[in-house]
Amino acid sequence: MSRDSYEVVLLPGDGTGPEVVAEARKVLEAAGENSAVKLRFSPVQGGAQYYAKHGSEWEPGGREKVEKGDAILLGAVGWPGVMRPDGNIAGYELVLGLRFGLDLYANVRPCKLYPGVLHRLGKEYSQVWKPENVDMIIFRENTEGLYVPAHGELTRGGATEVTVDTRIITQKGAERIIRRAFETAKARTRGAPEDGVRRVTCVDKSNVLRGCQFFRATFDRVAQEYPELERDYAYVDAFGQWLVRNPEHFNVVVTTNMFGDIVTDLASVLQGGMGFAAGGNVGDRFGMFEPVHGSAPKYAGLNKVNPFATFEASVMLLEWLADQHHDPRLHVQARRVQSAMEKVLAAGSARTYDQGGHATTSDAGDAVAAAVRAVA
Ligand code: IPM
Ligand code: MN
Repeated sequence: MSRDSYEVVLLPGDGTGPEVVAEARKVLEAAGENSAVKLRFSPVQGGAQYYAKHGSEWEPGGREKVEKGDAILLGAVGWPGVMRPDGNIAGYELVLGLRFGLDLYANVRPCKLYPGVLHRLGKEYSQVWKPENVDMIIFRENTEGLYVPAHGELTRGGATEVTVDTRIITQKGAERIIRRAFETAKARTRGAPEDGVRRVTCVDKSNVLRGCQFFRATFDRVAQEYPELERDYAYVDAFGQWLVRNPEHFNVVVTTNMFGDIVTDLASVLQGGMGFAAGGNVGDRFGMFEPVHGSAPKYAGLNKVNPFATFEASVMLLEWLADQHHDPRLHVQARRVQSAMEKVLAAGSARTYDQGGHATTSDAGDAVAAAVRAVA
């Protein structure tokens, strides 16, 4: 039974978050024109700046509204100098709180270089990697590892002497993220750019850490169910250099929470910088999509930052929603936004400052929305 609309909860959050979310909304609205299915948007205020003003991270009833929607689009959270008394960043509830609270165990971060986009290695804008050689998806475990609130400190006489962060790797947590990586690799038509091989790379530090040995053993066990896919391994330190040297080798990558946090920022350099890095936080029931770049306080309110990561996140949102509800009309909308983005990027007609251009955030939104309307 298909519905005539779906509700997207918008969490604009802090800093430049509201600006990029506003542009994504423009683009998504354009994608819904001429379609029998529409998205409805319900914005919920919250985050660090909201907390600084009101003493709570959510607008009244905000957290409840989040669960009533069909999908979530998050801008960014965090503001300099705003911390919670418990030592967590203000804005915690919108990111880590929802990852844990909605059990969004898979952080899915595609790393793809679009034609027309320049890398961000050093100060020169140029093309080091061929776009066709950068096309991978990194799966970051999102509900355990070093992010589990198993932290503590020993304070004596008012002075902190010892701090502890405990890394937790569970069988359930490892298995479900690894399985998702294999399922995605299986469903993907493209293999690694290097050789077309459909490959899943396990990134860990199993030469030292027990949790990583367990993660790798789980990887090997799950891999047996997918004989058609190649298994591949990399220690996280070596992965750092291979990622930059031979991105074409990678197809689907799976790793633990903290390593995934680090390597996806590194990987963003391959795809044009954080302005292009998008992520999906996905569980069995809920999905939250976001640009990875954060609130970028120094650019807040300037209409300057690159909204393409949020457009990419919007495509991911549409695809996820389409799959969840078996609604091919949403796949059509996702494809329209995707090809509009590709056209605008290839033409280089909406380059923001991070790409050496002069387009504003809203110029880029207008350009992509117009291109969406032009896609038949
Ligand atoms: C990310 C961010 C978050 C994380 C922060 C904002 C808590 O860096 O989504 O990668 O560490 O996961
Ligand atoms: Mn991060």
